[in-house]
Amino acid sequence: MTDYQTPGPARAHHVEGQTLRVDFAAARLALTPLTDRLVRVRWTPAERWAPRRSWDVAKADADFPAVPFTVAEQAGEITLTTGAVSVHLARASGQVGFAAGPGRVFAVDAAPVAWEAGGAVRVAKHIAGGEHFYGFGERGGLLEKTGRRLINCTTDPARAHGPDVDPMYVAIQIYLSVRPGLAYGVFWHNTFRSVIDVGRAQPGVLTLEADGGEADYYVAYGPSPAEVLRSWALVLGAMPLPPRWALGHHQSRWSYLTADEARQVAAEFRRRDLPCDAIHLDIDYMRGYRVFTWDPERFPDPAGLVADLRREGFEVVTIIDPGVKADPDYAIYQEGLERDYFIRTAAGAVAHGVVWPDDSVFPDFLRPEVRAWWGERQRALTEAGVRGVWNDMNEPVVFDRPFSEGGGGVGTLPQDAPQGPADERTTHAEVHNLYGLNMARASYEGLRQLLGDERPFTLTRSGYAGLQRWAANWMGDNHAWWEHLEMALPQLLNMGLSGVPFVGVDIGGFNDNCTGELLARWVQFGALMPFCRNHAAAGTARQEPWVFGPQVEATYRAALTLRYRLLPYLYSLFWEAAQTGAPILRPLLYHFPDDPVTYNLQDQVLLGPALLAAPVLRPGQAARAVYLPAGEWYDWHTGEKRAGGGYHLALAPLEHMPLYARAGSVVPLGPVGRNTAPEPGAPLTLRVYPGEGEFALYEDDGRTLAYERGEWALTRFVLRTTEAGVRLSWSRSGRFAPGPRSLLIQVAGLGTLTVADDGQPRTIML
Ligand code: GLC
Repeated sequence: MTDYQTPGPARAHHVEGQTLRVDFAAARLALTPLTDRLVRVRWTPAERWAPRRSWDVAKADADFPAVPFTVAEQAGEITLTTGAVSVHLARASGQVGFAAGPGRVFAVDAAPVAWEAGGAVRVAKHIAGGEHFYGFGERGGLLEKTGRRLINCTTDPARAHGPDVDPMYVAIQIYLSVRPGLAYGVFWHNTFRSVIDVGRAQPGVLTLEADGGEADYYVAYGPSPAEVLRSWALVLGAMPLPPRWALGHHQSRWSYLTADEARQVAAEFRRRDLPCDAIHLDIDYMRGYRVFTWDPERFPDPAGLVADLRREGFEVVTIIDPGVKADPDYAIYQEGLERDYFIRTAAGAVAHGVVWPDDSVFPDFLRPEVRAWWGERQRALTEAGVRGVWNDMNEPVVFDRPFSEGGGGVGTLPQDAPQGPADERTTHAEVHNLYGLNMARASYEGLRQLLGDERPFTLTRSGYAGLQRWAANWMGDNHAWWEHLEMALPQLLNMGLSGVPFVGVDIGGFNDNCTGELLARWVQFGALMPFCRNHAAAGTARQEPWVFGPQVEATYRAALTLRYRLLPYLYSLFWEAAQTGAPILRPLLYHFPDDPVTYNLQDQVLLGPALLAAPVLRPGQAARAVYLPAGEWYDWHTGEKRAGGGYHLALAPLEHMPLYARAGSVVPLGPVGRNTAPEPGAPLTLRVYPGEGEFALYEDDGRTLAYERGEWALTRFVLRTTEAGVRLSWSRSGRFAPGPRSLLIQVAGLGTLTVADDGQPRTIML
């Protein structure tokens, strides 16, 4: 540590607006409470603070309404206190710690903040007894990360994902700490390559380190995980509501090589009565991998193809890649060159790299005008009727040698390449992690312009904290291995705890050949993933739902039927995520943070507050152990009631996975059609599980931005169970009118009842 500079003792402090500023002998500190439970801690060893960047968090400090706080001085300490937390600052060393009443001491510095001569910075926090760590963005391995060293640097791992593969495509330096009675989170606000060491180098100490930039982090106090996620939605933004069709099943393959092949796959879904909402076109629809073009031979009439597929109830999603083919006869390349939109090397030449189209150049998405240009060029897709765009390879990855010579992803752009607008110029080193985020942003904002009042769907492979504002995210190139089905659970759960709710993995696995049993088990879990897509690599065996014969197809259909029935519930969870940042797929610890059994439970998930799924993750298993937390639960398939608070052995034949509803839940179900399009007037089924609880059903037109103008309906169901019986009340707010329709109320253990839903508040005894 001797090469490090530390703050030394405090010299003076004062409050300036919402910030407590403290001058130390060799550093300055700014402590800013942004809400009563969210505090930003910012250090600089220099005279000046780094300027605020346009690529920064969604909400600047100044955009938060003022929050009351007091500052007090004790012997060795300065204390800042809000209505919910106090921040304790040691005058002698600048060490910072947080407290929220007795027993709730957290995020306490284990050493003073330190700076290295080369610009690296380091913060060290004590790990308290019983603390468990989650989040950290996209990772392989188990759910809980104690003992791991986690790198934040967007990378195509280009090898089989596993616990030792780190970093991955996404970099999100956010973690959630949970122990009985207390959850809190930390966002390490630094875009450079960074490392979070969770007690690996030094047991009992968590370190945040970055190659450059400020020591800048936000601490979000819970005490529940949901409160922590709420704070991240304030700082980083929440996802916009996607179109409803994006919640349906997506079918993809690298590649459906011709328009006819895409048509045939779509037709097969309809012929076999398998619900599906989207067909994805991978890189081969392009002319020689030139982004924003269509191959004239294989896709001679893109508009005709898309129109035909839309008539059959499918939307088309097309892939785009950031590497622009360096071809003087290609308009996008010419335009980008003329306007100087491509990243240059430190020496000033346009930076080249090889990807799918071989020799390629890369747009500087950090510049607003480049994003606007790129976003507008998606017109080549939207004019043909495309409504969804899949952003790939945006770590960005470059190959070791041309793709035409068998190249694979190993590198990226030079670290010293200058990037960004003139007034915010920096090097690739500072903004590498933001490349995918800004490409996704260009895509989303461009589609918002191009699609008028229609909601866009965007998907991205790479991203940074806050990516939920711009795109859904899939976990990249997994394998058709049981181990990767198993890994998908903790991976997606940790993404949700990192603020990204709209996530999924490739159903059936991307690399390697899938088997029937694996596909069946995968789709059972996959049907509960927020983003539900079957996708596979070139050269692998086909894995569409019908490929493995009638039994697997029937299982696939049953899984999709469950998903489509659950759409009113699922769509309401998307709405909740868009409002509050709550994950859609949740680890059990999210709702049961005081139950230590949940801390390492990674083979079960909650879909929203009501449903608990226990997917089968190994071949040949027809039963598995299921942990039900305290309370009462109902078997989704049989309606049988079970007391929680322990394990039981659940039957799990290939036809379905164990699934439970929590007592006190109201789960709205819709009809199952060929896709997710709402059927006005169709009856709404309510599964009611006696107990105490509430559910807010969210509805709107599912397609347009009218919901942003108040065209939505929120129906709040309140369930109360007393000696007198089970009472269900509901009332509706908002301007959208879903009815009139009937409500089929199915009460577990009590039978079914039909009532009219005319928008008026009602209370009924069941
Ligand atoms: C990358 C993507 C994969 C895609 C392939 C071809 O490997 O991760 O999903 O199919 O590129 O575009």
